[in-house]
Amino acid sequence: MGKKVTVVGAGFYGSTTAQRLAEYDVFDTVVITDIVEGKPAGLALDLNQSRAVEGFETKVVGATTGPNGEGYEAIEGSDVVVITAGLPRKPGMSRMDLLETNAKIVRQVAENVAKYAPNAVVIVVSNPLDEMTALAQLATQFPKNRVLGQAGMLDTARFTNFVAEALEVPVKSVKTLTLGSHGDTMVPVPSQSTVNGKPLRDAMPAAQIEELVVKTRNGGAEVVALLKTGSAYYAPSAAAARMARAVAEDSGAVMPVCAWVDGEFGISGVYLGVEAEIGAEGVKRVVETELDADELASLKAAAEAVRAKQADVASM
Ligand code: NAI
Ligand code: 2OP
Repeated sequence: MGKKVTVVGAGFYGSTTAQRLAEYDVFDTVVITDIVEGKPAGLALDLNQSRAVEGFETKVVGATTGPNGEGYEAIEGSDVVVITAGLPRKPGMSRMDLLETNAKIVRQVAENVAKYAPNAVVIVVSNPLDEMTALAQLATQFPKNRVLGQAGMLDTARFTNFVAEALEVPVKSVKTLTLGSHGDTMVPVPSQSTVNGKPLRDAMPAAQIEELVVKTRNGGAEVVALLKTGSAYYAPSAAAARMARAVAEDSGAVMPVCAWVDGEFGISGVYLGVEAEIGAEGVKRVVETELDADELASLKAAAEAVRAKQADVASM
């Protein structure tokens, strides 16, 4: 049977994600929802009218939803649901400043997803990411492997881009990795990063790697400061769409994602950015990436930093 994916939230992140998912031409249906009357239907109409030019058969459906589940019938039977609903940052704001507002939105969305798409894999992107992922699992009561968050794919893509630009090499010759949280305790992993298969540490001095790590950590804020009215969406939507596709195709692709960690790396009971195999059931397996001592210490510190905040969302 053909696959169905829903994107909740028809803002910049949601609409570009829906576009990417439709253009893959691997889904039967892409549903896009929002609380703004008419907006999802308008976007769906527009995207469907691009089918003849872009050459895809996927049908896009738009649905306006209400807080008590109004309109949610449209998401029934979804294999994957990407939650993008929530406010983005304004210049000067941290992702954490969005916590309370977005917690209310994500809880309400997640409860409706659990009711109308009880078998879906949920991919959360709303910020603050690590906390909203934990909240979505609590609100859906889905098994923890079926709820994951998008951050590591984006942070890693930013790091890779900055390295490729600095060395003036093609992006495809660069492989980097970031783990940890989508925030101050993001953990770049230079020990696993390579340029043309050779260690990144041999390709540039430690000080320059550190400079690019800082740039990566601030990658989202730099875009926010320039846009002034919202946050990044092209790279973020590329990341979330690839994750949704890996679920739909049961590909087993290994990606850096926000996943429930239960014993791996000596860390337990927390949603954290790690590498994981992604498939039809969401996270098939957390991969215990080989880390050097400093990187492992940073990952453990990131786990403790997000653990406290994730406990707070239970009451939100
Ligand atoms: P946006 O403001 O363009 O869109 C958000 C949309 O959510 C709006 O259309 C709004 O009407 C909708 N919405 C609000 N409550 C809703 C509800 N209950 N049900 C359905 N829709 C609802 O913001 P944008 O740029 O699309 O960002 C969305 C979220 O993604 C933000 O929280 C942002 O911080 C986060 N983000 C996360 C990234 C990551 O790497 N995890 C990267 C970039 C953004
Ligand atoms: C980003 O990293 C704001 O989380 C968003 O672009």
